[in-house]
Amino acid sequence: MNDILELLYKEHDEHIARLKDLEKVIEDTKSNFDENIKNLNAKIDEIKFEYETHFKEEEEALFPKFFELQPNFPPVQCMLGEHDQMRDSLNKLKLLSDNLENNDLAWSSFDATLSDLSAVVLAHIDKENNILFQMARQGIPIEKLKEALETANSVRERATA
Ligand SMILES: [Fe+2]
Ligand SMILES: [Fe+2]
Repeated sequence: MNDILELLYKEHDEHIARLKDLEKVIEDTKSNFDENIKNLNAKIDEIKFEYETHFKEEEEALFPKFFELQPNFPPVQCMLGEHDQMRDSLNKLKLLSDNLENNDLAWSSFDATLSDLSAVVLAHIDKENNILFQMARQGIPIEKLKEALETANSVRERATA
């Protein structure tokens, strides 16, 4: 891993893979609730933790490098707004999954919340990968991006401590 962008691209791929894993766990839980509900809760906890850690890596390590060049840089402000939106959806999804009952009404609000979250996650990752990180590659000196990787590593260490 040479700089923070490499780390964040890798984590984006992992986030997409986790959403796919989650679909499988949901399918299993729908067909055998009692046996799989704990796996579903654990998967949601894992996703929530991994996303939150990733948001912090961006917010504490990468985004400040943009702000050093241009305070309140609008594309970064837009990403910050989406992080908060995803945090809200993740909290809601956790609440729904922790209290999930095996009936159509409960599953339909769970499914709707997850589909809102997935749509925002995929669009957000697309914007970061294809716009914001390209801007970072072109506008932020490589030493700053290496320095940001160290900050991101310490964010993760703190989160897992
Ligand atoms: Fe982000
Ligand atoms: Fe990201």
